Amino acid sequence: MKDPRTAFRPNHSNGVRRTLIKRSLAAGALFFTLSSTSLPLWAAAGRTKRAAPRIVVLYFSATGTTKRAAETIARMTGAPIWRIEPEVPYPDKMRAVADKVKADEKAGICVRPKAPLPEALRNADIYIIGSPVWSGTMPAVLADFLRSEGFAGKRILPFTTHMGSNLGDIPEAMAAACPQAQVAPGLALRAPADDTIRPEVAFWLKQTDARP
Ligand SMILES: Cc1cc2nc3c(=O)[nH]c(=O)nc-3n(C[C@H](O)[C@H](O)[C@H](O)COP(=O)(O)O)c2cc1C
Repeated sequence: MKDPRTAFRPNHSNGVRRTLIKRSLAAGALFFTLSSTSLPLWAAAGRTKRAAPRIVVLYFSATGTTKRAAETIARMTGAPIWRIEPEVPYPDKMRAVADKVKADEKAGICVRPKAPLPEALRNADIYIIGSPVWSGTMPAVLADFLRSEGFAGKRILPFTTHMGSNLGDIPEAMAAACPQAQVAPGLALRAPADDTIRPEVAFWLKQTDARP
């Protein structure tokens, strides 16, 4: 005679136990598969979370336009910013700069960078490098700096400020100065390069996949 307390209780405890055993075996197999890939669990499970690239903004500027643009880009990216300076500073008026460049060329004077890149800024993944366009290219002092730093294995994002020449040949000249760096498509900014550049900078950073 059946115990009346259990007479109407469906006897599925064996089925439940079997299901539980099957589930724990499956979970164990899944855990083994994931943990044996040497990827972190969240990455192997498909929840890929890329680390933000480390970005540094570098620029050369004689009359302040590229400086302004670089400062805006640094604010937008939260990146540290560093100015590439010549041993002897240029005047801050365009006409005077043009005269000095011409006189230096005539006298065969090479303007050298004042300092190398500080140690603390050497481990970035991406260098956003700004330059004015001078006679269609970048100033010789910047080319000299880039050649001596090399930026091997890094990404360079060039931007220019100009009065009509757009990028000039600056991305190509940067690639020639740093043959082991990867130079992305550049961004040309027209003076005054103030805060109004933000939308085009944002679009460029998105295109070059350099959002922080
Ligand atoms: C020596 C010199 C050469 C220049 N050559 C060009 C040029 O070839 N094409 C151009 O569009 N602008 C040219 N410019 C204008 C600068 O590219 C522009 O004013 C730039 O925004 C200046 O940047 P900065 O204020 O950061 O020095 C030249 C300016 C100077 C001083």
